[in-house]
Amino acid sequence: MNIITTPDPRLRTKCKKVNHVDDEVKDMIKNMIQNCLDWEKEHEFEISAALAAPQLGYDRRIIVVRDDMDDKEHGTFIPLLNPEVIKTEGKTLYDYEGCLSVPNIYGKVPRPAKARIKAQTIDGQEVRIKADGFLARTLLHEIDHLNGILFIDHIKGQKDAFYRLDNKGDLVPVDYDKEIANNKDLYPDED
Ligand code: NI
Repeated sequence: MNIITTPDPRLRTKCKKVNHVDDEVKDMIKNMIQNCLDWEKEHEFEISAALAAPQLGYDRRIIVVRDDMDDKEHGTFIPLLNPEVIKTEGKTLYDYEGCLSVPNIYGKVPRPAKARIKAQTIDGQEVRIKADGFLARTLLHEIDHLNGILFIDHIKGQKDAFYRLDNKGDLVPVDYDKEIANNKDLYPDED
């Protein structure tokens, strides 16, 4: 099982709700966490903060979010089922985002500063999360995935919003007209 990347159409579908946690759902969660850990072993400068089910081709509303974003040694993830955005607040902030399904491209993406999220745990408990900062951004990015939306959609046409990592691990701007505008993997419908 491997992480699927653009332009795979499975990244563009609206995923189905999880009604009960059976062995199939538990296996999906296990594979999602394992894929995050495997991926970052091969990416020296990056950490897998979270993953959404469609990134493994699963058509279900499941995300896993790392509980400590700053410590790569600490690989514990929290699964959330059927996460929903209740409310967003605060001003729009621009910060860097990457995605395991959009290889080698980063973007400076606008997101609201704060988000209130509702979800279920694997034990069937309802949880409400008041998130800000990087956690709010991460949760909004992952919930977007469940609706077939990628971070590149939020910055489409913005020439100064795209970056890549250089070989020292620094983000450097990408030439939009050369590498993004006509990239059919990113924007297949453009002519
Ligand atoms: Ni992503």
